[in-house]
Amino acid sequence: MRCPGVTMWHDAHVSVLITNIGELVTNAPGDGGEPAGPGPFASAANAALVIDAGRVAWTGPVARAPAADETVNAAGRTVLPGFVDSHAHLVFAGERGAEFAARMAGLPYQAGGIRATVAATRAATDDQLRANLRTLAAELLGQGTTTFECKSGYGLTVRDEARSVALAAEFTPEVTYLGAHVVPPEFAGDPGGYVDLVCGPMLDACAPRARWVDVFCERGAFGPDESAAVLAAGIAAGLQPRVHANQLGPGPGVQLAVRHGAASADHCTYLADADVDALASSATVATLLPGVEFSTRHPYPDARRLIGAGVTVAIATDCNPGSCFTSSMPFCIALAVREMRMTTEEALWAATAGGARALRRTDVGHLGIGARADLVMLDAPSHAYLAYRPGVPLVAAVWQAGKRAA
Ligand code: NIG
Ligand code: FE
Repeated sequence: MRCPGVTMWHDAHVSVLITNIGELVTNAPGDGGEPAGPGPFASAANAALVIDAGRVAWTGPVARAPAADETVNAAGRTVLPGFVDSHAHLVFAGERGAEFAARMAGLPYQAGGIRATVAATRAATDDQLRANLRTLAAELLGQGTTTFECKSGYGLTVRDEARSVALAAEFTPEVTYLGAHVVPPEFAGDPGGYVDLVCGPMLDACAPRARWVDVFCERGAFGPDESAAVLAAGIAAGLQPRVHANQLGPGPGVQLAVRHGAASADHCTYLADADVDALASSATVATLLPGVEFSTRHPYPDARRLIGAGVTVAIATDCNPGSCFTSSMPFCIALAVREMRMTTEEALWAATAGGARALRRTDVGHLGIGARADLVMLDAPSHAYLAYRPGVPLVAAVWQAGKRAA
């Protein structure tokens, strides 16, 4: 069948009906109409879905499902929107397993560990960085992540940041320029000179391939004035801002993010009431990264306080070799439910629709009519199993833009 309103434009184009879905999570209010972006959490039992031309063409009860060129029987399994991981650092070389082990033995996490990865990244070839990135991207996809953001930030020279964003752009359109990750050792005596580089020649070299500008606003990284300068320069170069904010202690990051109209303030672990108020009265999403608190033994962010205040919350992995080396959105959902007391619905929404909001995307994070057909099938009767069976590989199949991808 051809779904109404969908043009057949390629000979090899086939529609696919996925039927007998035990729980279909759509995050879409009702059906019909133009793609409107993710709505609140929404799901249906005994449902079906039709993919046509890479988009969601129809959803509804099994009994009313139209025919399609191909049929997939979900046999009671769950279907979700693909996860949207809106915060990841995947362009790097080396690993810091010993640093993690030392932390578990009692040493604190410090921002300075980033410099070890910077040294390894600078020493790596493009092909080595690309191979690592390809492995991680495949790891994400296999665990149900169909959209991910990827930051530079382990190069910290014009050449190494430029190649980092270029490599990231080979794998995702959501590329973030994070030249302001830490001050590299060669600028230890001249942090202002490094900020000038980040806001000048390095930005010029990176902006053409990036969509976002980010800054690690934290004691040991960049202060409020330096961070504001980086965001302003990025915005002037056409990039949209997002901020590493209030990760290791209280600070100005969240206020700065809101003031600059950032899409997201990420981490939000140490918040004052004024920070929560600022987020609640803005369009800035609070992206929580519970894998970091798991891996650093910092206290988890207070998700209930944020949700209670009306803040939009996203969950992402922060996959990086230092503070959190997980690529698993299901693991982060389980942490959000168990450790941050989010309901299973809130956590799943935050990992799909919330991530889409944090990336200002309306085509992903939901399965409303017209959404990109990014789907995860879970070998489970409900989405709750993501937290109920933590650590179990439940992802049975993944579709990306309507194509079976894993
Ligand atoms: O998000 N906060 C800054 N950047 C990373 C840490 C990276 C690292 O430790 O290598 C983060 O936690
Ligand atoms: Fe990060």
